[in-house]
Amino acid sequence: MSADTNATTPDELIRFENVTKRFGDSTVLDDLCFSVRSGRHVTLIGPSGSGKTTILRLLMTLETPDEGTIQVNGSRLFPAAEKERREARKKIGMVFQQFNLFPNMTVLRNITEAPVRVLGLSKDEAEARARELLDLVGLGDRADAKPTQLSGGQQQRVAIARALAMRPQVLLLDEVTSALDPELVAGVLDLLRDIARTTDITMVCVTHEMNFARDISDDVLMFDSGKVIESGPPEKIFSDPEHERTREFLGAVL
Ligand SMILES: Nc1ncnc2c1ncn2[C@@H]1O[C@H](COP(=O)(O)OP(=O)(O)O)[C@@H](O)[C@H]1O
Ligand SMILES: [Mg+2]
Repeated sequence: MSADTNATTPDELIRFENVTKRFGDSTVLDDLCFSVRSGRHVTLIGPSGSGKTTILRLLMTLETPDEGTIQVNGSRLFPAAEKERREARKKIGMVFQQFNLFPNMTVLRNITEAPVRVLGLSKDEAEARARELLDLVGLGDRADAKPTQLSGGQQQRVAIARALAMRPQVLLLDEVTSALDPELVAGVLDLLRDIARTTDITMVCVTHEMNFARDISDDVLMFDSGKVIESGPPEKIFSDPEHERTREFLGAVL
């Protein structure tokens, strides 16, 4: 991982090249360049409004850049023909702050829906995969529950299982514990630590949980005003940052 703009390296999974994103008059991402190598765990930090969520939403194709290119695993996400974009998009799963489960579906159906509809798995295959993942996230006995019957921490575990059911190469995590009651945070973070340790999935996290970020990250990228102002291993960024903005930000959150 680096914030440079040099030639593509073979194991680069995500690449943003000169990406600009505006909302009305405000430039949220400003000629942004960065890349993430396969299997790495990268954490995005920076003040509220610095564009972190927008980066993840671009990768999910929930937003479109105004300028620049985004590539995933060598395929173009933007600009791209619809077919190429769909292929690149399949490599990516996301877990949101607010869970975003389908409220009218059971836990099991929440997890099987996309594998059946998007990947074309049979119902049996999708259910077998979903049950394995429910075991992994510690909810093997809640397959038939509705989301409202679960705690926030359990709902977020289902959302993690749902993202993994698509067998993504990249898992995007956007402040996934910030809507949880404090006593439920540690369990979800432990689950994510396990996933980071035991799978080769590439992770891009936005989090205010700095201890967690320090534990799992290979690289930390500090954003400000739509640019990466500093990046490096967590030991460096958290203990000895170069930039005054990074020091200020960490002083406020640590
Ligand atoms: N759909 C949108 N319409 C208008 N402005 C938006 C939209 N999404 C985000 N923004 C603005 O873009 C900026 C960056 O937002 P965001 O990516 O959510 O930042 P972060 O996640 O770092 O807090 C903020 O000023 C936000 O208000
Ligand atoms: Mg955000």
